Amino acid sequence: MCGIVGYLGGRQATPVLVEGLHRLEYRGYDSAGVAVLDGGEIVVTKTAGRVQDLRDLLVDSPATVGVAHTRWATHGVASDRNAHPHLDAGLRIAVVHNGIIENAEQLRARLQADGVELVSETDTEALAHLIAQQRADSLEDAVRAALRGVEGTYGLVVLDRDRPDELVVARNGSPVVLGVGDGEMFVASDVSALVHHTQRVVFLDDGELATLTATGYRTSTLDARSTSKVPTTVAVAADAYELGGHEDFMRKEMAEQPEAIARALRGRLDERFATAHLGGLALDPMALRAIRRVKFLGCGSAYYAGQMGAVLVEELARVPADAEPASEFRYRNPVVDPDALYVAVSQSGETLDTLAAVQELRRKGGRVIGAVNVVGSAIARECGSGVFLHAGPEVSVASTKALTNMTVSFAMLALLLGRVRDLSAAAGGRIVAGLRGLPGQVERVLADDADIARIAKRYAHARHMFFLGRVRGWPVAREGAQKLKEISYVHAEAYQSAELKHGPLALIDPDMPSVVVVPADDLVAKNIATIEQVKARGGPVIAITNADLPDGLADEVIRVPRGEPELDPILLTIPLQLLAYHTAAALGRDVDRPRNLAKSVTVE
Ligand code: AGP
Repeated sequence: MCGIVGYLGGRQATPVLVEGLHRLEYRGYDSAGVAVLDGGEIVVTKTAGRVQDLRDLLVDSPATVGVAHTRWATHGVASDRNAHPHLDAGLRIAVVHNGIIENAEQLRARLQADGVELVSETDTEALAHLIAQQRADSLEDAVRAALRGVEGTYGLVVLDRDRPDELVVARNGSPVVLGVGDGEMFVASDVSALVHHTQRVVFLDDGELATLTATGYRTSTLDARSTSKVPTTVAVAADAYELGGHEDFMRKEMAEQPEAIARALRGRLDERFATAHLGGLALDPMALRAIRRVKFLGCGSAYYAGQMGAVLVEELARVPADAEPASEFRYRNPVVDPDALYVAVSQSGETLDTLAAVQELRRKGGRVIGAVNVVGSAIARECGSGVFLHAGPEVSVASTKALTNMTVSFAMLALLLGRVRDLSAAAGGRIVAGLRGLPGQVERVLADDADIARIAKRYAHARHMFFLGRVRGWPVAREGAQKLKEISYVHAEAYQSAELKHGPLALIDPDMPSVVVVPADDLVAKNIATIEQVKARGGPVIAITNADLPDGLADEVIRVPRGEPELDPILLTIPLQLLAYHTAAALGRDVDRPRNLAKSVTVE
């Protein structure tokens, strides 16, 4: 989704801004632009296309202050004109903006009625004109006054030609982070654009503004009350955002899974009492016992991870559990159960629909915890308690290691809930040992890369694919289909295996391969029957399994190690990542930047 970078200090601003934009490319965008203050004028360079195209247009400038942006089109097509930064008619104010202004049409109409000529189709341009129209003593007050009439979400940075020593930043529903340097200040929509310069950051809250100068910052609310924000140090190594010899980030992040799992488990497993310690939950055993239901809320893959979590909680704790897309939950006036534990699942911690679901829950008095990867993110802060995923920064749009760590974290949550109930010490000990063995087992699945690449190549020509599974295998199948479609653009549909005969079986023919997930559980015979049904109609089958299947049953068999059965979904998901990856590679797709998608979805 859109990215913001701003700089103010003693260095040449343009190279800092462009480098920041490069680091934000992974978020997804379709145009890019820069505005710097040079010789008393705001100089804007922008283009539809990649940051590299922008770089080719830029000229050397001594400017030491500026703002920059990568845009993901919402209001108006991707074009040079609609790219940010946007200026007011007097060329005094430049604005970069993430989010959506919901009353943009009214604002634009009002501006036009005032005789303002709008040059773009964007909501953001209206902000530049509105800020310029304010009669205020400071830029901060002008921004504040303009924002009073604005409905919607924004993370924005404002540059004023007549105030070369400051930038004003505001946030409502779209993240902005300040980076505190030595005699210089940075601002970005994502810490990845800052950590090469500073690890001292300040996360703005919704409804907050900041005025930056080269030597510091001050923060306040939209209604002009000052706030006090102390910088925190982000423990992210700058090279976490580098490829480090890998072809792309998805490959790097898949390879990092064993160490990411080990990090998630560190200090959280207790052999003595055969349980898990999740201090961030802030729930004592009495409170854990009082939980009557668990509901996982997330979007996309985070929702499928939640589904895997629900299966784990029901199996290990025998507490009713389910998962729902946060984007549905927030709009359906949900009945909030005071005895339920709600778990908001998000890698980025910034997904707007998930954040809105959390806010709805809190407003209704629900108990909600976060399962979030990015420390300091909006969802983590809104929840206040929960489980950090410790997957490390995830850059590729396709979530891999974060999803794995979500499921690992849910296994620990399920174990903890089980052990305060009726899960025996022996069963708990079995899960603890199973979790400890996961990094090594994932390593073994990853080592199967060449064979999975061969299979992917064989079926990459398919226009459509089914992903089938039941019970533990069902969310795995859903996640496998999701991964394939998002990076390879092959149409993939997940079905519960038993549902096949109620309709979709009509689609099976030699051109429709099915990926069937077969965990070594009580349902192996049922899954064998599913495979036979598909084969009888000429459909090719790729089985993902750790069960003993009859020889020759499936056309291809991808094996994963056998561990503790409840943890099978974690291992069975890994080959599906590789299958999607190699299919996308065989089709020549840009795996890290799939079309139309963004890494974190901060708009509705
Ligand atoms: C995963 O591969 C997808 N890119 C997407 O479904 C993602 O999981 C979803 O948008 C939720 O993101 P979050 O975990 O950052 O909230």
